[in-house]
Amino acid sequence: MTPIGIDDIELATSHHVVRLDDFAAANGTDPAKFRLGLGQDEFSFPAPDEDVVTMAAAAAAPIIERSGAEGIRTMLFATESGIDQSKAAGMAVHSLLDLPSQMRIVEVKEACYSATAALQAAVGIVTRSPGQRVLVIASDVARYELDTPGEPTQGAGAVAMLVSADPELLEIEPVSGLNSADVDDFWRPNDSSTAIVDGALSVTAYLDALTGAWTDLSAQGGPAMAEIDRVLYHQPFTKMAKKAQVHLAGLTGEDLDTDIVAGPVPSGSAETGPAGVVSSASDSGSTGPRDTGLATSTLYNRRLGNSYTASLYAGLCSLLDHDEDLAGRRIGLFSYGSGSVGEFFTARVVPGYEQHSSRQAVTAALDARVPLSMDAYRALHATELPSAEDVSTPKVTAGPFRFAGVKGRARIYERS
Ligand code: CAA
Repeated sequence: MTPIGIDDIELATSHHVVRLDDFAAANGTDPAKFRLGLGQDEFSFPAPDEDVVTMAAAAAAPIIERSGAEGIRTMLFATESGIDQSKAAGMAVHSLLDLPSQMRIVEVKEACYSATAALQAAVGIVTRSPGQRVLVIASDVARYELDTPGEPTQGAGAVAMLVSADPELLEIEPVSGLNSADVDDFWRPNDSSTAIVDGALSVTAYLDALTGAWTDLSAQGGPAMAEIDRVLYHQPFTKMAKKAQVHLAGLTGEDLDTDIVAGPVPSGSAETGPAGVVSSASDSGSTGPRDTGLATSTLYNRRLGNSYTASLYAGLCSLLDHDEDLAGRRIGLFSYGSGSVGEFFTARVVPGYEQHSSRQAVTAALDARVPLSMDAYRALHATELPSAEDVSTPKVTAGPFRFAGVKGRARIYERS
């Protein structure tokens, strides 16, 4: 059977960053609460002229530049933080990237999970028409109310993935474990720009979904844990991935690594690598917990914060960019979206994947973010666009695309 999966992948984020040490100082909180308790060092925060569209276009543009738009007849845009109740955010990306008109473009929603539904749908489309390629984009701005427990887990980011036959990065395997349950752990009513969350319930709902999805994967004939070399999780905060790993170890009886980096993660270069990261070595013969890439897959997210639909795939970028021993290895991916859906699926890494490393570019983009003072951050967080007036946004972002404002109640985008 022709392998189908991820042929190319790119991660983009916002112009601003909030450093959790500054946040801790302003709130009189021990910084260790964030670095160790949540496993987060920073969070990305959009400038007034950025949103899910500008980040999505920034992520997808290098992919289109590298391989053109030929054969791309579908764009699936996954987001929790869409910008319109009716029109798909992907339409603006289509325009910004000058994509062909012979395309179908839709938006997909189920909290942080929907990018995985989009990815599976893309695999289905390419299975039927192997000459086609599908652009899957996950883009989100994670926002909680000021002074709530969720606030330090905010973030912003987009991951664009090109799904094709004979992919150069990841071959997605056909068996998937699924779990859905109607639960009010996290949701966002239509009139609210911030999520409502029952934090404690959301953590148990996530772990229950992991149990359900893993159990279903096994029932569907999926691989045993011993046959999975690395595991990636949705990362609302990286400590959640550690909790999930401990949970999976309990479910499977396997001795798995549970260490995440005790930040901060120095920016590092592709040559030296970030301090505190050990290379994954599941076949090293060493005793002790098996290294399944928990530390390497959480490096980018520690700095991005939660990027909802993009979070699992930012973890994938981090793993691909930092683990030199992935060729031919099987990765397990657990996707979770509150509300809730969990899916556990697996994929094989294609030899040669390391030639596609975006580590320098991603690290540069993270380093280039402009820090916000706490006062500036709080003011920006509180800013709401007037709902019925024309408005122009200030030129702030250094990214390639910007949200220029609203005219006649329609959102206007442009190249920066
Ligand atoms: N030094 C080190 N650790 C410290 C510390 C210190 N000084 N102070 C506290 N901690 C530790 C605590 O012991 C705790 O550790 P454990 O989780 O291992 O017990 C951790 O820091 C968190 O502290 P709290 O228990 O006090 O919890 P909190 O008030 O910070 O809230 C949260 C945590 C509920 C997850 C909150 O951040 C939240 O509501 N987040 C948004 C919801 C969320 O992300 N849920 C995750 C599952 S849902 C999902 O995945 C979908 C999605 O993307 C939203």
